[in-house]
Amino acid sequence: MDRAPHPQTPETRLPGRSGALHVLVLALCLSVPVTPAFGQAILEGERFHPVSAQQGMVATSHTLATEVALKVLEEGGNATDAAVTAGFALAVTQPRSGNIGGGGFMLISKGDGSAPEAIDYREKAPSGATETMYQDEAGNVVRNRSRFTHLAAGVPGTVAGFALALDRHGTLSLEQALEPAIKLARDGFIVPQRFTEGLEQARERLQRWPATLKTFYRDDGSAWEAGERFRQPELADTLQRIADKGVKGFYEGETAQLIVEEMQRHGGLITHQDLAEYQPVVRTPVHGNYRGYDIYSMSPPSSGGTHIVQILNILEGFPIAELGHNSADTIHYMAEAMKLAYADRSQYLGDTDYVNVPLQGLTSKPYAEELRKSIKADEARPADEISPGQPPGYESPETTHFSVVDKWGNAVSNTYTINFSYGSGITVQGAGFLLNNEMDDFSAKPGVPNAYGLTGGEANKVEPGKRMLSSMSPTIVRKDDRNFLVTGSPGGSRIITTTLQVLMNVIDHDMNIQTAVNAPRIHHQWLPDEIRTEQGISRDTVRLLESRGHKVVTHSAMGAIQSIMVGEDGTLYGGADPRRSTSSAMGY
Ligand code: GLY
Repeated sequence: MDRAPHPQTPETRLPGRSGALHVLVLALCLSVPVTPAFGQAILEGERFHPVSAQQGMVATSHTLATEVALKVLEEGGNATDAAVTAGFALAVTQPRSGNIGGGGFMLISKGDGSAPEAIDYREKAPSGATETMYQDEAGNVVRNRSRFTHLAAGVPGTVAGFALALDRHGTLSLEQALEPAIKLARDGFIVPQRFTEGLEQARERLQRWPATLKTFYRDDGSAWEAGERFRQPELADTLQRIADKGVKGFYEGETAQLIVEEMQRHGGLITHQDLAEYQPVVRTPVHGNYRGYDIYSMSPPSSGGTHIVQILNILEGFPIAELGHNSADTIHYMAEAMKLAYADRSQYLGDTDYVNVPLQGLTSKPYAEELRKSIKADEARPADEISPGQPPGYESPETTHFSVVDKWGNAVSNTYTINFSYGSGITVQGAGFLLNNEMDDFSAKPGVPNAYGLTGGEANKVEPGKRMLSSMSPTIVRKDDRNFLVTGSPGGSRIITTTLQVLMNVIDHDMNIQTAVNAPRIHHQWLPDEIRTEQGISRDTVRLLESRGHKVVTHSAMGAIQSIMVGEDGTLYGGADPRRSTSSAMGY
């Protein structure tokens, strides 16, 4: 059994896989300076070894959530049971992103080889939402309105989504899956340094709201310090109402009343009817094939799966393995492919319940081939010379992170969010949870970028009841009908490219899962016209990219990807992302 919070086994390679791993590890070890959390991992060589186990594996961004989910597996629960238990636990232990006031997407791929399924529990625009609600009378976008006011919140989907996942694939009751979360909320937990730092950094924004101040800070307004016990009695009561009454314990009754009162006090739009009518949707994941691996990822209203498959299709025509990991050639081709995909994203992607998205065209090999032809080997195409392409044919309108693998080979990949760290910053008074600010993921006005610099148009305009476009990309890779890789990440617009690079690091560069997770990442999203890199890309490489006309900027770490890989002999390998200090992978 291996229950270490960070990878510690001596295993360095998957059975049957090869590669210049030691050279890579050495290269990465020498890639300093880096951001503090990431640097620590790079300098501690043992963290490049995945956790290994035989029966079950959980990777989440918080050790306490990993522990409670692993216990579910050990006691005979399946991957969905463990995933939902982790999701509720994260809503308590990691309020900056774990949630019941937001939404997300869950991908479930059974061990029996049956078709993977996606559960879309993305938030929806309230029925009173309008296309111009984030614009002033002159038509200018009033930016904070979609981010830090009660108008920023979409109707939350998490509770309904988790309940549906359990109904369809779980063996636990909602009450059982909520038990650890309720205990963590009521009895409290010892806060890690990251918890304190997050609340300190967001203090000004969060303390504007008395309920947030009361829920997350001490009486004198200071943040709970690392090592102290933090309790959330109101959240415990809210979770208990769900345990007692099912989804109606959230979308109706006392909790619904508290949400609606919160809205009415501050000019928000969510009504009792919006809450009562919220429904998660079962969708077919996007499917692609990359060098013989089947890629399943999230369909609209997320753009994630579509563009991961599109970028991989473009890159399949280049000898990426030969060109080498993070070489100037590889980064050049990746950046050029990313630009083309994000340009298409801005034009075509939206909620397929409202708009037609040419999904088949965007993810087709011929369209990728056409786009590939526009990429020059030695010259960056300026973003203003790129406009969205012409993917073939709109099809019919009916179409749309933690990782767990259980002993039956079932896999769950789940990404959910309240958008920004701590979402809107607004806590529902009396209910103890934060509301999302997901409405900012809509296009407030065509061509005006959202918080992630992403632009959008007609396809992603605000409409009542519509789901805002997402980049969340819970992804499962199969090889010969067997679940092989389970992965996904936070990171706004960078989710797509973060997830993409873990896939490429494993498939093209033959890395073990921990090395694939740790490796420095790059990102291009068409606009702004720059390759964003983490530290760890060599100066030589940057110079070579600049000589081709790329602008290269180095920023903080991107994403926090939690991954599991299944070896050919069934051994499970967990890779938690050291960029988030509370991340952990554990197996048994
Ligand atoms: N809120 C970020 C996303 O869904 O892409």
